[in-house]
Amino acid sequence: MPMRLVFVGPPGAGKGTQAKIVCAAQGIPQISTGDMLRAAKAEGRLPAELARAMAAGALVPDDVVIALIDERTHESDCDPGFLLDGFPRTLPQARALDAMLASRSLELDYVLSIEVPPELLLERAVLRRADKRTGHIYHLKYSPPPPGADLEHRPDDREDVVQKRLDTYAAMTAELLPYYEGLGILKRIDGVGTVSEVTARVFQALEERK
Ligand code: AP5
Repeated sequence: MPMRLVFVGPPGAGKGTQAKIVCAAQGIPQISTGDMLRAAKAEGRLPAELARAMAAGALVPDDVVIALIDERTHESDCDPGFLLDGFPRTLPQARALDAMLASRSLELDYVLSIEVPPELLLERAVLRRADKRTGHIYHLKYSPPPPGADLEHRPDDREDVVQKRLDTYAAMTAELLPYYEGLGILKRIDGVGTVSEVTARVFQALEERK
């Protein structure tokens, strides 16, 4: 049965790390609006005002990410389901997603909120590095890269920008989590612990699938 999931969580919570593991196990694509926007920027397709918003730790406009998700979820690799990583982030995005899926007689199974206290988030984001060639995500303290890895540091992972992203997230989830709680599909996951400890909690939550 197709599985349609959303991962919600603050910057550095581990959404991308856990999403890759779940997607590999379930055979579904990971759809990250952040990755899509960064790819558009790298290819010179991202309008300058959106690049500025991202660099400053602000959200890009709802209509931009809604259009990206609408188009991407029509692709055939989404037939077995998909995992949305970092979308929706606002109530209008959540409502647009519901309408989009309802128009195709589909619905979400679960929204997993990965919860980590603010004092750990800053360190997770600021010390994150990605391998330019493979896209693999490392952490300089918790999962150090191998020698010779060609690493990049996201410009929005600077401490001042991460703090702004945390503030943006806190303002946005004030509405988002109660919305999904009301629909009865919200699962709160304790994101503190090793990657494999968190993965075990994620899979346990998915086993309780209706
Ligand atoms: P996006 O790319 O989505 O960034 P984010 O939500 O801020 O999330 P991150 O990628 O920072 O963190 P993550 O939770 O994936 O953590 P990770 O697994 O890498 O968005 C970027 C920007 O794009 C936004 O600011 C906005 O401008 C724009 N945007 C995107 N979507 C949008 C939308 N829907 N609407 C409007 N604008 C949008 O882990 C972090 C680090 O911690 C890694 O180094 C990892 O190795 C390490 N780590 C992970 N788990 C653990 C653990 N258990 N223990 C120790 N370390 C761990």
